[in-house]
Amino acid sequence: MSPREAHRRAQPGTNEGPALFMLAVIALLFVVALLIWGTAMLNSKVGDLGSSNPFVVVGGVLSGKLAPEPLQIIVLVVASLVLAVLAAGIVVGAIRQRGDTGDASPVDYKARSMAQTRHLRGLLPKGAAKDVKRLKAEHTGLGSPLGAQVGTGKPLRASYEWVQIWLMGPRAGKTSCVCVPQILETAGPVTTTSNKRDIVDLTRGPRSMKGNVYVHDVQNIIGEPPTWWWNPLSFVVDYESAAKLTDIFITSSTEAGATQDAYFKGAAKETLTRLFLAAAVAGRPITDVFEWANNPKDEKVAPELTPVYILRTHGYESQARALDRTKQLPDKQREGVYDNLRTWITVLGNEKVLPWIVDDGTTRPHFNPEKFVTSTSTLYGISKEGDGSARAITGALTMAVLTAAERIGSRQLGGRLTTPLMAVLDEAANVCRWKDLPDVYSHYGSRGIIISSFFQSWSQGVEAYGENGMQKLWSAANIRAIGKGLSEKEFLPFASSLIGDHDVVKRSSSAQKNGRSVTTSVQRERIFETSDLAALPDGRAILMASGMPAALIKLTHWGEKDYGELVMQSQDYYEKKAVRMSAGGVS
Ligand SMILES: Nc1ncnc2c1ncn2[C@@H]1O[C@H](COP(=O)(O)OP(=O)(O)OP(=O)(O)O)[C@@H](O)[C@H]1O
Ligand SMILES: [Mg+2]
Repeated sequence: MSPREAHRRAQPGTNEGPALFMLAVIALLFVVALLIWGTAMLNSKVGDLGSSNPFVVVGGVLSGKLAPEPLQIIVLVVASLVLAVLAAGIVVGAIRQRGDTGDASPVDYKARSMAQTRHLRGLLPKGAAKDVKRLKAEHTGLGSPLGAQVGTGKPLRASYEWVQIWLMGPRAGKTSCVCVPQILETAGPVTTTSNKRDIVDLTRGPRSMKGNVYVHDVQNIIGEPPTWWWNPLSFVVDYESAAKLTDIFITSSTEAGATQDAYFKGAAKETLTRLFLAAAVAGRPITDVFEWANNPKDEKVAPELTPVYILRTHGYESQARALDRTKQLPDKQREGVYDNLRTWITVLGNEKVLPWIVDDGTTRPHFNPEKFVTSTSTLYGISKEGDGSARAITGALTMAVLTAAERIGSRQLGGRLTTPLMAVLDEAANVCRWKDLPDVYSHYGSRGIIISSFFQSWSQGVEAYGENGMQKLWSAANIRAIGKGLSEKEFLPFASSLIGDHDVVKRSSSAQKNGRSVTTSVQRERIFETSDLAALPDGRAILMASGMPAALIKLTHWGEKDYGELVMQSQDYYEKKAVRMSAGGVS
């Protein structure tokens, strides 16, 4: 019996126990007698007993009247062994079914009320293999790993058409049990994000055996030198894409729902979009946008280098006029607009960030998102909040890669990437402040773009994408998983209701004159009460997949995988290298 939660009391025992025990003993005696009788019938002298009646024959064997013969003994022993093995198999099967394996968890008994093998068929190895074949993506892998079925320990994998959202508290195993397997168990390209080095150290070694590795560390969080660069303006091809770039700079430096003066914010957003567009169409470095933002009147700037002139000469007459009008505003009003937009792009004046976003004239390669999504390379976007919105650059790079994947995918067979792109957005709320992310969720699966976003809590997602955005993201995901360490008063009851109810047999005992009486009744009860969810133990998560009941799953740490040794070596190598680098050594 698996250990249950501390707050649960055992129900009173039933009166059926002794009767069931007696029944089992009688059944056993019957089987033994049957064996003795059956094998005695093989004895050449059985006829001497004068009857083949089982009682007479068994009595003859037990009293010694019928001396056993070798064949009879051999068959008796073999048949007993076969029956013993069968019985052991049934017991082990029953234990497995109950989840009472060596690494059982206090909540595993709940799995009996949740999704069973017949519900999970599409995620289990056979179903997953069939799905991968259907998508003609066998060369990529076996599907996106999720964890293991509680009880059987069989791996569960999501279709390469499904997008995922994972909500698990701090230190709950997001990176080591889900992100690492999802990054390593694909042969295709991977773009991933994080706010710390663990994900890079753990997977860089094995991933570099598959293709190039690009680590984007604009804030110098993990000490990665800029051996390559990416110009955010390469994303801008028209006003709409310039507006998207502007959005990511805004959301990266403000909280969703933060109040800003609507007039100034709106005007500042349009102005910044025009500046990005001007720099992009003229092939100017993104640092020009910083200069223009800090010199709204274009003082001492050659006329042909002003954004208004550039827009006009590149066919954007109306945008040029609109920008000119903003420039002509009364000083106070104009400054109001420019003050706003300057707060969003402070990062563009940061000398340490510049090597990542501007060409320094050396031979460093420029990152090409379109080439990347058809390669087998890995991109790590590392950033965090603070540092003057530097995470906007990493967010923009992720957005550029996903947008390129969508574009390329729509041109390939079936309108999807032939080799799916895994986008493992660990710490998504911190790194990828792309406000359209919840919108693209609903159709990225069909384009072969497999996004998995990871959040420490529901409210972390709300802070990044707003309540509506987070709701949208949650609803559009085909795989929704929650793990330990969550404690939000609105989200947990909601999750508890999604997992649903089950029928529970309740027993109550009462003392009677002639002994004890036990009555039973059936009641509906939440499978996971809010408090059960808040106390979800280590190594377990609840998986809510499209079209099937909620399942309790075991999280599989990378150490339990067959590539665990490679991961350990990678971690060891890159962690030590980081220590050497920070101590001033060479790489
Ligand atoms: N099922 C598990 N078995 C063994 N170790 C585990 C398991 N889950 C997590 N750990 C260990 O616990 C620590 C935290 O795990 P991990 O970094 O994966 O959590 P996380 O949810 O990503 O945390 P954070 O929110 O801080 O990023 C790691 O050292 C990891 O190896
Ligand atoms: Mg983590």
